[in-house]
Amino acid sequence: MSTPERTLHPVTLAEGWSPESWRGKPALQLPQYPDAGALEAALAELRQLPPLVTSWEIFALKKQIAEAQEGKRFLLQGGDCAENFADCESGTISNRLKVLLQMSLVLVHGLRLPVVRVGRFAGQYAKPRSADMETRGEVSLPSYRGDVVNGPEFTAAARVPDPRRMLTAHARSAMTMNFVRALIDGGFADLHHPEYWNLSWVGCSPLAEDYQEMVNSIGDAVRFMETLAGAEVHNLNRIDFYTSHEALLLPYEAALTRQVPRQWGWFNLSTHYPWIGMRTAALDGAHVEYFRGIRNPIAIKVGPSVQPDQLLRLMDALNPDDEPGRLTFIHRMGAGQVAERLPPLLEAVRRDGRRVLWVCDAMHGNTESTTNGYKTRRFANILAEVEQSFDLHAAAGTRLGGVHLELTGEDVTECTGGARELTEADLERAYRSSVDPRLNYEQSLEIAMAIVRKQGQRKGDARA
Ligand code: PEP
Ligand code: CO
Repeated sequence: MSTPERTLHPVTLAEGWSPESWRGKPALQLPQYPDAGALEAALAELRQLPPLVTSWEIFALKKQIAEAQEGKRFLLQGGDCAENFADCESGTISNRLKVLLQMSLVLVHGLRLPVVRVGRFAGQYAKPRSADMETRGEVSLPSYRGDVVNGPEFTAAARVPDPRRMLTAHARSAMTMNFVRALIDGGFADLHHPEYWNLSWVGCSPLAEDYQEMVNSIGDAVRFMETLAGAEVHNLNRIDFYTSHEALLLPYEAALTRQVPRQWGWFNLSTHYPWIGMRTAALDGAHVEYFRGIRNPIAIKVGPSVQPDQLLRLMDALNPDDEPGRLTFIHRMGAGQVAERLPPLLEAVRRDGRRVLWVCDAMHGNTESTTNGYKTRRFANILAEVEQSFDLHAAAGTRLGGVHLELTGEDVTECTGGARELTEADLERAYRSSVDPRLNYEQSLEIAMAIVRKQGQRKGDARA
């Protein structure tokens, strides 16, 4: 996936930290396992299993994020809100990878910048919940916390947290990762054959012409380079691809936190790029304690209630050495609130001077319910949040360095709007998400094209 890299920036070892030191802090969102013996047995087994990623890949990603912090790359991250064990299936995995690669192609071509490609999958199996219990009628049961913890069925048996599910999550993550690595190594992203990047939908999409034009121009560029060089340009079929997930279930994450030969410190080897959610970002909490000691690049969700001072304290706790590539803030304000909520945060971090990568999650602030009972998001709002974010960063003297989107490679109807102008009535046709509504294939590419258009306009405005 990548070449070994060492970070040259000096970082200090987190004092008093161990992979289990979080156990001494208030831990939110963790399940109560009824059988302590079964839990310990599952964790002992997990500690023996091979990791899912390597420290070399983690350093390579950190370096790419550091470059994105300097405006030399753009980060594209996408995936489902939550993976289910049943999603570990070839069509779902390859279609999702395909749409992410195609979006990255649009971005590389349009922004003239290399893209950091991250899939929030191969481990996105735990979900934070607003209530510990779910009540239906007279019956209250523990909430469903994602497939790594318990089952979604509303039965007492399914809702008991089962520690063996952590082993299944590890196995499914490994299978997902294995397939993604094999597809990429096998030339799934080979720029010599941009025609393979075509999609069945392109034939009938309103975006077809723009997309086809871009594919042709990439093909021309590759042929031009090869004519110039007098040989085939290699490495055009090799790309870097990284994974992320919300590292919520600390017993699982700690069991995959390892030391490696010839490197100091500890690495979370369950994913390249773990996230902390809003609900578990308390400074004195277990999650911040766990994250401060690992050497991975880390991301934190930033919602509309976050105050500037909170961000600065998180920077103190999680990146005291101002290490390049270490910290990403993923803001999710909603199209209606971003203009009011984001600037004070940008201003505080800019004034502070330490580096972060700013990424816009344009999904979570824009969720709404329709009159026919579907949870949806309007394409126009998602796009508006991305576009406003670019402008707000520019006005604040900071830089929007990436986007996070919830998307799928399938032709679902979960978000309204887009080139095909999906309406609320269309939602029932192919609504498959069990959690948040996702952009479908076409809507995802449309967002990528819109980002390019927006940046083109911004550059044009700057020149005018
Ligand atoms: C998410 O990140 O997909 C999500 C639903 O986040 P939260 O539950 O923290 O809002
Ligand atoms: Co979500």
